[in-house]
Amino acid sequence: MKNNRTFTMIKPDAIQNGYAGLILAEIEKAGFKIVAMKMRQLSTEAAKEFYQIHKERPFFNDLINYMTSGPIVAAILEKENAVLDFRALIGNTNPEEAEEGTIRKMYAKSIDANAIHGSDSDENAAIEAAFHFDNDEII
Ligand code: GTP
Ligand code: MG
Repeated sequence: MKNNRTFTMIKPDAIQNGYAGLILAEIEKAGFKIVAMKMRQLSTEAAKEFYQIHKERPFFNDLINYMTSGPIVAAILEKENAVLDFRALIGNTNPEEAEEGTIRKMYAKSIDANAIHGSDSDENAAIEAAFHFDNDEII
């Protein structure tokens, strides 16, 4: 995948709260172009695989239960400096510590239901995008 791309998921709490469209609008307003997008319900198996890096963390089971509690929207986004700019747009993992104007500050309630995911490196963006999309699903 090109270095000007990142991967995101709008998480189940945000979908259930009716924020999917508002969050996508923030993403587009910030200059990201959507180059792939789908809604899907993650199976427990898929969620465990996606978050395997956290499998030893104490919150792993809570994370899997939450991420499978309803559908997510997965997307690939394009912009110069995509990974870092998108992490800035979504804000701190804990919405209580997220800056004003960030997506987590506006649309997340807690660290365990924090509305949105953003890849933390170009390498992980490519891995995570490939987890959710085939090549022919990406513009
Ligand atoms: P992502 O963009 O979702 O990867 O978040 P992040 O990179 O800001 O945080 P990290 O990768 O460290 O954690 C992944 C996800 O695990 C977070 O987004 C939270 O949903 C969840 N998480 C992190 N810390 C905690 C915690 O202390 N308790 C619970 N329940 N969940 C946590
Ligand atoms: Mg992370």
